[in-house]
Amino acid sequence: MRRPEPKAVERLLEPDRILVSKTDKRGRITYGNKKFIEISGYSEEELLGAPHSIIRHPDMPKAVFKLLWDGIQSGEEINAYVKNLAKDGSFYWVYATVTPSFDSVSGEIIGYFSVRRAPDPAKVAKVTQLYRALLDAERGGGLAASEKLLVDILEKEGVSYDEFIHSL
Ligand SMILES: Cc1cc2nc3c(=O)[nH]c(=O)nc-3n(C[C@H](O)[C@H](O)[C@H](O)COP(=O)(O)O)c2cc1C
Repeated sequence: MRRPEPKAVERLLEPDRILVSKTDKRGRITYGNKKFIEISGYSEEELLGAPHSIIRHPDMPKAVFKLLWDGIQSGEEINAYVKNLAKDGSFYWVYATVTPSFDSVSGEIIGYFSVRRAPDPAKVAKVTQLYRALLDAERGGGLAASEKLLVDILEKEGVSYDEFIHSL
């Protein structure tokens, strides 16, 4: 499927709405609630079985997704601000919690799910600045450079990634 051309058109998620999606272990979408499907602009048929990166926005740094996957694959719950790309090229910011689903018998990870809400616009403004800096680092020195920048920022603040997200 062709990637939509990003447009400077923002869609705002109503404060009381929640976007839910589930994936298999590789990040292919296995479920999306009504609101998740609606805001994406894709049909349920287009979303089911597609990689979750179908709604990836080019303004999102790779380092954030690396941190996300490292966390959830080791069984942790990860919170992140994510800018997503809708099928019509518009974008929508979410505050996402992504977490593994475990098999009740073996305890192994069988997939992942994510719950997202409308983020606080003031926090989005701060995250936008951070992501711009990470993207710049990525353009110059690839993923290693943006990961290093993120680690440096956290070290300077003396906080973990999760504490940092909560402190915004
Ligand atoms: C449960 C779950 C939910 C995800 N939600 C999103 C999302 O809303 N937007 C997004 O761009 N990536 C999301 N991802 C991450 C994607 O799998 C992917 O890593 C990301 O879009 C970057 O694409 P890439 O890994 O092909 O570079 C999610 C992953 C999981 C496991």
